[in-house]
Parts: sequence; structure tokens; C-alpha cells
Amino acid sequence: MTKLKLYEYPHPILKKKAEKVVEVNDDLRKLLDDMLETMYASNGCGLAAPQIGLSKRIVVIDIAGEGKEPNPLYMVNPEIIWSSEEKEISEEGCLSVPGQRAEVERPAVVRIRYLDYDGKEQEMLAEEFLAVAAQHEIDHLDGVLYIDHLSRLKRQMLLKKLEKYRKEHNGK
Ligand code: NI
Repeated sequence: MTKLKLYEYPHPILKKKAEKVVEVNDDLRKLLDDMLETMYASNGCGLAAPQIGLSKRIVVIDIAGEGKEPNPLYMVNPEIIWSSEEKEISEEGCLSVPGQRAEVERPAVVRIRYLDYDGKEQEMLAEEFLAVAAQHEIDHLDGVLYIDHLSRLKRQMLLKKLEKYRKEHNGK
């Protein structure tokens, strides 16, 4: 497996709407494996293909957390087919916006349709943190970052902190 390069804000690929995957084949599975490896190596719980510079509708998620048995979820061409009226606020971070976190409001429960690792169509009802992670990653496929959900003022404050963070972690 290969650890892939992560693309960070404000790289334009992160603003682009990603293209649908035509076929789930061995090449794609290799990519899914590499994305998962890259995500684990960066201590992330989700990664979308645009974040590795590939504008395709592919997402990997593992919300098991450190010290727990890995529980990877691979989603190809994921679509949110239902969202609850009920919303929930939770803190989010993103490997493409390093060192930052902010509270985002999203639907509390979503139903997602996607193709799995074997190319089989699946449907899943996601709630709690899985709902947050899935919506965050699917947003990436539409060129949306979690900071786009913040008010203008909050986003500007976060981007200032990002600038400072990058100066302190120079070259990293
Ligand atoms: Ni992200």
C-alpha cells in the first residue's frame, strides 16, 4: 500500500465537483486501500478522493477511533437519499484544513446509497458521528468543505488560525 499526498485548502481541486466512478474494479480497490492507509497514517476518520488530488466520487470512513478494532467503510458514488429534519451540531475537523476544528450543524440522520468495495449497491442509515462523517465526506465530492458551512466571520477567524498554524508547522 502507498501513502498518498494530501491536498489542502485552498487547492482548487477541493472546490471541484467530482466525477462518478464507472466501474468498481481491481484498480479502484487498490486506490481504496491506499486511501484508507493514508487516512489511518494521518489519524483521520474520513477521506474523500479530491483530498488526494483525484476528482472522483470515492470516500473511505472509519469512525472506530484509536485503539479500537478497525472498521473501514468504503463508499463509491455515495448519494444522500434522505435527511432527517432534526439537526445536530458537532465539532468537525478535516485533513485538508490541518490543526483546525469548528462546530457545524447538519441533519442528525441520513440515508445513503452507495457501491461497496465489491461494487455492490448498498443502503445505510447513518446517525450520530457516522452521519457527520458521511455528510462531511460526501460534501468533499461536491467541492464543499466544512468551513463553507460556517458564518463568514467564523470562517475568516478559522482561516487566520490556519495561517498561524501553518507558520508554526513550517514545512510540515
Ligand atoms: Ni474533510
